[in-house]
Amino acid sequence: MSRKPAIIGAMDSEIAMYLEHGEVKAEHKWHEFVFYEMNLKGVDCIVSKSGIGKVMSAMVCQHLIDTYAPTEIIFTGVAGALNTNLDIGDVVVSKDCMQHDIDGRALGFPRGTILFSDKSLFEADDELHDLAMASHVDGHRIYSGRILTGDQFFTHKDIEDHAYLTTDMAGDCIEMEGGSIGLVCAENNVPFVIVRTISDKADGSAAEDFSKLHHLVAGNSYSIVSQMLPKL
Ligand code: ADE
Repeated sequence: MSRKPAIIGAMDSEIAMYLEHGEVKAEHKWHEFVFYEMNLKGVDCIVSKSGIGKVMSAMVCQHLIDTYAPTEIIFTGVAGALNTNLDIGDVVVSKDCMQHDIDGRALGFPRGTILFSDKSLFEADDELHDLAMASHVDGHRIYSGRILTGDQFFTHKDIEDHAYLTTDMAGDCIEMEGGSIGLVCAENNVPFVIVRTISDKADGSAAEDFSKLHHLVAGNSYSIVSQMLPKL
């Protein structure tokens, strides 16, 4: 079966290089969202911008699946580092991902677990994960890890108040869409992987670093995805 991947980024800066380097064949609008049918590196794919957060990304992901029947979903973008070994520009490829801000502990459910279910960690597809890991980016490391997702931008104070992100949840990086993409893909049985370049260290300079660097470092995620596509 020929493959038709869908690629989602949350911000313009995260999908700009796909639109620049690929050939856009058609554009479709759904509500405020635009879906680009395109050819990139010889592969027909759909590219879309979700906007920020778990709800926006879930909407776009479900619409993509229902309308375009992609063979896989690749999320491309930036993240804040939680793992202190990671530097700005390094890339985290999801081994798995989780919503860190769903919290039903008062009802006896572990943090990160969807209440009244056993759903918490969403595992990336092995083939997509391994293809991403086999790519390279000059001067930066590609790291296989756990992506934590929630509807908050984290800075130094937040991280101090949320030690569980690294202690209990063993997160390597933090962002705002991967866990909801993982959930929607799991519910629909669609393989996925999240590719996130570190734009900041979720510390006191996170807001400044993110604002300065997200345009630049998003290119590392693009570089990895563009190396993966011809090998699908
Ligand atoms: N995406 C990039 N940096 C982030 C941070 N510090 N917190 C949440 N999402 C992010």
